[in-house]
Amino acid sequence: MAKHILVLTGSARKGGNSDLMADAFITAAAKNGHTLTKWNVGSKHLTGCIDCKTCFHKGKPCNFDPDFNELAELLEQADVLVLATPLYWYNFPSQLKAAIDKIYAYHIGNRKLPIKESYLLTCGEDKGEESFAGLLTTYKLIAGFEGWDIRGIVVVPGVAAKGDIKDTDGLERCAALGRELV
Ligand SMILES: Cc1cc2nc3c(=O)[nH]c(=O)nc-3n(C[C@H](O)[C@H](O)[C@H](O)COP(=O)(O)O)c2cc1C
Repeated sequence: MAKHILVLTGSARKGGNSDLMADAFITAAAKNGHTLTKWNVGSKHLTGCIDCKTCFHKGKPCNFDPDFNELAELLEQADVLVLATPLYWYNFPSQLKAAIDKIYAYHIGNRKLPIKESYLLTCGEDKGEESFAGLLTTYKLIAGFEGWDIRGIVVVPGVAAKGDIKDTDGLERCAALGRELV
């Protein structure tokens, strides 16, 4: 069955390592007839949640953040959420974290998002996978809380400059997950 897949990219670097991971996944999954939407959180101006609890009071999820409200329209159609992101200070980049924070609006507004499955594609400069422990723990706890079935995780350490990931097996691993998505 064709699915709506939303791919959020956390880096503002176009053609950067995590952007290429997203593209590898998208190209492969699209061949299975799925609808894929890529949305670059890293270049948006999402602001942090201020816990005002006025979510949906004026119809939109957030009363202050047009970028999140644009994203919300995509979240509301997604069966599958893919987070493709670099590691920043051992966790999500703040723009992507701000987007995740604002999913809180759906809890305050007592509404349910249709997302059922999720993937994490991530990369960082450090050589070992230990550096990703915080990000992985955060991601798994969020997925558990939201009821997202984690369908795959790709971690690529040791990549720093744009395009370094081409010298690893990371893009092939992302493509393999996309191919398997049925
Ligand atoms: C603000 C910032 C923080 C970073 N923090 C980490 C880190 O904690 N651990 C790490 O391994 N790499 C860190 N990096 C390096 C990036 O994760 C790495 O260069 C990655 O390949 C960038 O992905 P991109 O090309 O998709 O932007 C950081 C980079 C930036 C700009």
